[in-house]
Amino acid sequence: MGAGPDGEQPSLSINSLQSALAQRVSEGFARIQQDKAHFAPLVRVSERPDQWDFQADGALAAAKRLSLRPNDLAERLIAAMHSSGMVERMASSGPGFINFRLTNDYICRFLEDRLTQVIAGQINPPKRQRIVVDLSSPNLAKEMHVGHLRSTVIGDAVARVLGHLGHSVIRQNHVGDWGTQFGMLVTYMDSLGASATARLADLQDFYSRASKKFHSDEAFADAARATTLALHSNDQACIKLWSHFREVSWSHCSAVYKRLGVDLNEDNLRGESAYRNDLAQVVADCEKAGLVSESDGARCVFSEEIKGKDGRPLPLIIQKSDGAYLYATTDLAAIRYRADQLAADRVLYFVDVRQRLHFRQVFETARRAGFVREGMTLEHIPFGMITGADGKSLKTREGNTPRLNDLLDEAEARACSLVRAGNPELSSEQCEEIGRIVGVGAVKYADLSRNPLQDYAFSWNSMLSLEGNTGPYLQYAYARIAGIFERADDSLTGTTPLSALNEPAERALALELGNFGAAIEGVATKGHPHLLCNYLSSLASRFSKFYEDCPVLKSAPSTRNNRLRLCRLTADVLKAGLNLLGIQVAARM
Ligand code: ARG
Repeated sequence: MGAGPDGEQPSLSINSLQSALAQRVSEGFARIQQDKAHFAPLVRVSERPDQWDFQADGALAAAKRLSLRPNDLAERLIAAMHSSGMVERMASSGPGFINFRLTNDYICRFLEDRLTQVIAGQINPPKRQRIVVDLSSPNLAKEMHVGHLRSTVIGDAVARVLGHLGHSVIRQNHVGDWGTQFGMLVTYMDSLGASATARLADLQDFYSRASKKFHSDEAFADAARATTLALHSNDQACIKLWSHFREVSWSHCSAVYKRLGVDLNEDNLRGESAYRNDLAQVVADCEKAGLVSESDGARCVFSEEIKGKDGRPLPLIIQKSDGAYLYATTDLAAIRYRADQLAADRVLYFVDVRQRLHFRQVFETARRAGFVREGMTLEHIPFGMITGADGKSLKTREGNTPRLNDLLDEAEARACSLVRAGNPELSSEQCEEIGRIVGVGAVKYADLSRNPLQDYAFSWNSMLSLEGNTGPYLQYAYARIAGIFERADDSLTGTTPLSALNEPAERALALELGNFGAAIEGVATKGHPHLLCNYLSSLASRFSKFYEDCPVLKSAPSTRNNRLRLCRLTADVLKAGLNLLGIQVAARM
């Protein structure tokens, strides 16, 4: 890693202008203080961008500790920091706020030295963690439908960001492949004999026929229950049929992942069945830890922290009275595996909000049972539903839950006709290729750009719009910049280092570029990709303003080089940012 701005080695975690400034402020503080109290200021983008770039909070609390008046502390800090080439102006305001305006020179150097590394993923986190990401995890009984979209794309985006920041990421697709419905499916498969394979081509149809039979045919239902028992006691004939079913179902999933551009394959496939031989031990160990009580013959762990409406501790059932294990038992086994075998420091669960209580109970039980490593965190990142325009769960015209494959077909077709209408000169293969990138990107972006906790209404028109915070808008912003380079002379590549920021719109764009690292760090901490979406969308707006105010190709050579450099860096950040969201770009749209 080269020397950073100001000739110093850049600190390993300085990924944004914001964090560079925060570090400088705490160094300044270290220089003036008498005791060893640490001051880690909270640096934010200024609310008065016409005068200031950033604002640091927290001097108030630090001043109290040092028995100084907040303004005195701010003044001393300012004096201590003045020598660096980083800050053009500083001023304290209010109780312990400090405002900063950076020098243009520092901003330019930061973008050249550090932003380029952040884009390329040359980032060493201060503490490299092993992070397990539990994502997608559909039940293999049915084909993937719209209900699986959020866990899949949000989890994938966060996993990409964590990997980009230098962590070691282990994806775990905790598919449902061992529940009681598999007895039903396997029995139905067996009853079809040779025609089963053909029927399995339409998994949805297969499932609904099996389930109809289960509910209308007593003998079949009995057989299905017997099969579940046989399966769970490792009967080889049943296991063989089950494996076949699982393989077919998995190949449906794989195909969807491929279309979505999601990085999930057999290496990260570790479903419920993988833990089937650990469940008895999990219950025994919970018992040994003194956590288990019997209630109506079932084995339960009563929570110490989580109480029901009646004020009594809620039970987590880990074994039913007939001996069967549950979803929760498997999750306990998975936690132990992730702690012991995967040596996880952090586990993120991308699962919908309706399972919030389940995870609170499971996490608490796992801790009390001693399954969780010291310092290991377990985080459920919940998300809401995708609804129709009416706010109710999204349905097809026939009243079914839309299959992801059908949804993606429609997205691609719609995007393709938009591309064709806008670019009549393109060949039909080109339109299809761009349509695929835009259509899939639009569906993913619509999901990623929302605060995950909110439900959101699925709408083709808004997600495919070229205006607003949409995937196509950002892809278009990228293509527009690619177009500038296409029209420019071959020698104009936008690689000459940035040396000046003369116009306000240039400076505003450069500052925004300098905070790309802060946006991705936010995603890593909170598990919320919409923070990166918001950032990219405001970067694109800054770019538009810049492009309106500052002619690029028609300007004088030295100005032109600087502006082309800003164009290049913006395109690089847009592309890297979208790729971190799992979204491709096209050079034309
Ligand atoms: N298969 C479950 C479902 O469809 C989601 C699994 C989530 N992951 C977990 N470790 N429980 O609801």
